[in-house]
Amino acid sequence: KTFDVAVVGATGAVGETMLGILAERKFPVGKIYALASSRSAGNTVLFGSKSVVVEDLAEFDFSKVQIALFSAGGSISAEYAPKAGAAGCVVIDNTSHFRYDPEIPLVVPEVNPAAVADYKKHNIIANPNCSTIQMLVALKPIYDAVGITRINVATYQAVSGTGKEAVNELAGQTAKLLNGQPAEAEVYPTQIAFNVLPHIDVFQDNGYTKEEMKMVWETQKIFGDAEIKVNPTCVRVPVFYGHSEAVHIETRTKITADEVRSLLQKAPGVELMDERQDGGYPTPVKQACGHDPVYVGRIREDISCDLGLNLWVVADNVRKGAALNSVQIAEILIKDYL
Ligand code: A2P
Repeated sequence: KTFDVAVVGATGAVGETMLGILAERKFPVGKIYALASSRSAGNTVLFGSKSVVVEDLAEFDFSKVQIALFSAGGSISAEYAPKAGAAGCVVIDNTSHFRYDPEIPLVVPEVNPAAVADYKKHNIIANPNCSTIQMLVALKPIYDAVGITRINVATYQAVSGTGKEAVNELAGQTAKLLNGQPAEAEVYPTQIAFNVLPHIDVFQDNGYTKEEMKMVWETQKIFGDAEIKVNPTCVRVPVFYGHSEAVHIETRTKITADEVRSLLQKAPGVELMDERQDGGYPTPVKQACGHDPVYVGRIREDISCDLGLNLWVVADNVRKGAALNSVQIAEILIKDYL
């Protein structure tokens, strides 16, 4: 049995990777449709080794496909995902637009796969924020074993999370500055090359940014735990691919670093890399970039707090943080529901 699939935003950083991962994992695709704006219609993108002509989203008839993977921005999803759902196809949406709707499931396959069942109301499943996904894949085994009451997290997020223009901005600014020329900022409010910006997405009334609040809301929804406390600081760093996170948790009952290491050794989607020596920890460039696992290292008991534990969590934000997670949701969908 095969499924006809549309990728919306197929020319973008995430869309291109969605096509690549569908091919790589041998998803049973019948016909593939690559959709983007009218500006890109007629261009081609790659689906495995095959090239596919890009079509204009505005003219596409979603009754031709059974599954649509959306990653073209929140306003595009707001307009087209309900239409696609009404036409009978199941939308897996990578934007934040539907994530907090109680009628729409928000799924990380390693954490809450059963939530996929709720897609039927609107034919839409939301893919969580990249930073939330990798954090929860790493924390799920600990949460199940001893409970987690509070999470303090500081992120170190790559520019590819913003999109292709941001990747170009970091490369362009770096080249200019190394050539003694001034660097102009267009995508970010100020220079990102050789710099660090404690600001991702828009500021909220409470002083946190929307990216930070996504980690709060999404952790509670995915764990199904309205009581879990999350205190995030989200930071953009001059890295192209791969988000890192310093995660500091407080558990309900005591767990040792050794116990956490043995739990994570066998956790789905996790790769443990925790040697207490030079280079014995994961980094975005050397481990995560281009790979599927969520890498975890630097596991330590918190010396300042009895029930505290620290971890360093790194993953490819475009793959596990977006495209791969969406394709894994589609795999559950075809295995159990379609
Ligand atoms: P296009 O290349 O035609 O602008 P990124 O996040 O890497 O910047 O990618 C954004 C993706 O969303 C691209 O594929 C882009 O297509 C697509 N997109 C942006 N605006 C629209 C639109 N109005 N209709 C359809 N696709 C859009």
